[in-house]
Amino acid sequence: MIKLNDIINIKIEKLTYGKEALARFGEDNFVIFVKGALPDEELKVKITSLNKKFARAEIIEILKPSPYRIKPFCPLYNACGSCQNQICDYDYLIEQKTLILKDIFKNIIDEKLIYPIIKSPKTLNYRHKIQYCARQTKNSKRILLGYYKDNSHNLTNIKFCPTQPEIINSMAQFIRENFPLDCYDEKNHKGLLKNVLFRINSSDNEILLTLVLNLKQDELIDFESKIFKFSKKISAQFKELKGIFINFNPHKTNNILGKETIKILGEDYIKEQLKDKKYYIGATSFFQINPYAAEFLFDVVKNSIKNNSTILDAYGGVGAIGIYVYEKTKKITLVEENDNAILMAQKNFKLNNIENYEILKGDAKKHFINFQKENKKFDYVILDPPRSGCEKEGLLAISKVTDKIIYVSCNPQTLKRDIMELEKENFKPKFIQGVDLFPYTYHIESVVLLERE
Ligand SMILES: C[S@@+](CC[C@H](N)C(=O)[O-])C[C@H]1O[C@@H](n2cnc3c(N)ncnc32)[C@H](O)[C@@H]1O
Repeated sequence: MIKLNDIINIKIEKLTYGKEALARFGEDNFVIFVKGALPDEELKVKITSLNKKFARAEIIEILKPSPYRIKPFCPLYNACGSCQNQICDYDYLIEQKTLILKDIFKNIIDEKLIYPIIKSPKTLNYRHKIQYCARQTKNSKRILLGYYKDNSHNLTNIKFCPTQPEIINSMAQFIRENFPLDCYDEKNHKGLLKNVLFRINSSDNEILLTLVLNLKQDELIDFESKIFKFSKKISAQFKELKGIFINFNPHKTNNILGKETIKILGEDYIKEQLKDKKYYIGATSFFQINPYAAEFLFDVVKNSIKNNSTILDAYGGVGAIGIYVYEKTKKITLVEENDNAILMAQKNFKLNNIENYEILKGDAKKHFINFQKENKKFDYVILDPPRSGCEKEGLLAISKVTDKIIYVSCNPQTLKRDIMELEKENFKPKFIQGVDLFPYTYHIESVVLLERE
């Protein structure tokens, strides 16, 4: 039996969903999780934590490296928590992500129906929404912008990130050098600037900047002129900057955004285009982070829909999917709760000359239950919920209003839970197709078509 601090040799069996690789040890195949390892690697490790079911270990020495091991291309890889796997050749990582999907879904979907993950057309400079934390050094008051190191609240100042457009690096540096007010200090809940959010279109020529402040809206007056001056200055420097916003988040919370956002300068939106579809995207409305791979994702949805169908685009955001699949539809009903996304969706349907649509604001579950009560029917329901997935009651209601569900998910674990719930209502998965929206991370986006048997 292994003990804490034991040093042992292991061979990695596979990558798991998350940030770790798995090995088995001894006659009872005791499970050991290790970070920073690849399948088939032989390692000397030290046991760092242990319970009855599994242990965690850290690598002391790589005895036999994987032939797919690469040198991280980002100099900050070990200091920054935002990419979990830059040690693996991209094509091999995609194969491993497919195996992870097969592992997760093996008991509920026939392996032949779990298709190989589609690669991202771009693996660098692909992130088009960036959410930096803002902090300040104690003595010199230098502004730091970046991500937390894995599992910590230690900020890594990211002066260069190869996964985002180059202009964001320059703009972040400008903010470090010119923002006129203090940054937030978690320890005493003082200081103003908590986060800096950038949203940029896929042509890299339109950007929205949101400054998240530790302030209530009515307290802004004391700081308004300094922020306005700063906004003018940064706008003059970057012609790509289309709009600047303030979000008020005076709470001690891990949520980045508070409820209220106001515009300081410029436009309300940036313009995006996927194939022939055009979109306005607001500062606080959702849009896929990797617009290049999003086209592949939306193609999978579109190809699953028969012509002339009525569609419910649930958790529809700015209408991205509904509008993308428009040629296949007779009518689109969009359900969304975020005000800014609703506003953009209204503009987006018009922008794409779509007439037969309906937008319903509010909680998706409540609408699903109403649809059931009203005996509404849809040929297809597209579900694209947040990471937490759908609520049971909502899924049950949805199962009564359609025979075909296209579930788009960024979390295979909640997706599995929800598929199992839908199976109770006789829905069967017809395929699962992963698309790599997040190269060099552990994240897996997938689409499942479910049909009632
Ligand atoms: C993963 S995004 C998908 C958006 C859109 N389908 C797209 O691809 O751009 C999830 C969306 O669901 C919305 N949302 C989250 N919880 C919701 C709820 N309970 N009811 C309605 N919409 C919700 C969010 O505001 C967000 O726009």
